[in-house]
Amino acid sequence: MAKITASVYTSHVPAIGAALDLNKQNEDYWKPVFAGYDFGKEWIKQNKPDVVFLVYNDHATAFSLDLIPTFAIGTGPFYPPADEGWGPRPVPPVIGHPELAAHIAQSVIQEDFDLTIVNKMDVDHGLTVPLSLMFGQPEAWPCTVIPFAVNVVQYPVPSGRRCFELGKAIRRAVESFDKDLNVQIWGTGGMSHQLQGPRAGLINREWDNKFLDRLIANPDSLSQVPHIEYVREAGSEGIELVMWLIARGAMADAVGGEAPTVAQRFYHVPASNTAVGHLILEDN
Ligand code: DHB
Ligand code: FE
Repeated sequence: MAKITASVYTSHVPAIGAALDLNKQNEDYWKPVFAGYDFGKEWIKQNKPDVVFLVYNDHATAFSLDLIPTFAIGTGPFYPPADEGWGPRPVPPVIGHPELAAHIAQSVIQEDFDLTIVNKMDVDHGLTVPLSLMFGQPEAWPCTVIPFAVNVVQYPVPSGRRCFELGKAIRRAVESFDKDLNVQIWGTGGMSHQLQGPRAGLINREWDNKFLDRLIANPDSLSQVPHIEYVREAGSEGIELVMWLIARGAMADAVGGEAPTVAQRFYHVPASNTAVGHLILEDN
């Protein structure tokens, strides 16, 4: 059977992608950011997934105000890197896993979660920057990826509670797929940042670190946190963090199993306008 073995969490700051693509990793500004991912790059070589179920948000790239799915699952065979205004990132195309994605869609929709099915879309920095942070700059991504886009851009956005429950449904779906596959689930975006308005530049280290504590030890109660707290404490774009609850809901302890092991925890300020957070949780 397919199995969720670990969850990975990371910010998706677009300037990190640009720093990699322009070979600036060793500049003083970027060194401490990339250092936080040295462990993860080694860890993922030892714990190579067959499939990454990658929860991310599209930034008005594949979608726009014309069409705003709350949750969209990529069931297509491949996804080109998007042109976000300065040409597509020079990264490999993302290869999908249509068979597992269709199975997850079937299972999760039958459990009453409304998903939009997407067979064709370009993927922006929300998806490609996390891949670059964990896999570096390979010729081809070393595994297949199921993109799972969440609307955290245009209100109303989904609650943390719903995201956490959806994660549990995704776990049940993966574990009922009858092929042996090592599946990781990634939750991306965040941490605190605000890109516009009078509070632009907001960072809240204390709240971010408490978020990490609560995500590790107390995800059920963290899932009750209302949107207004994210926006007030972590800034307007800090709401991206609800996506981490989808990945956390897919860990064993969310459905009565053992608590995961923390393999890596990292926090750094600043990267561009954003606080960077990164966690790796392994199921036991
Ligand atoms: C920045 C962060 C984001 O999450 C994003 O989508 C765009 C820009 C930033 O830090 O500049
Ligand atoms: Fe973003």
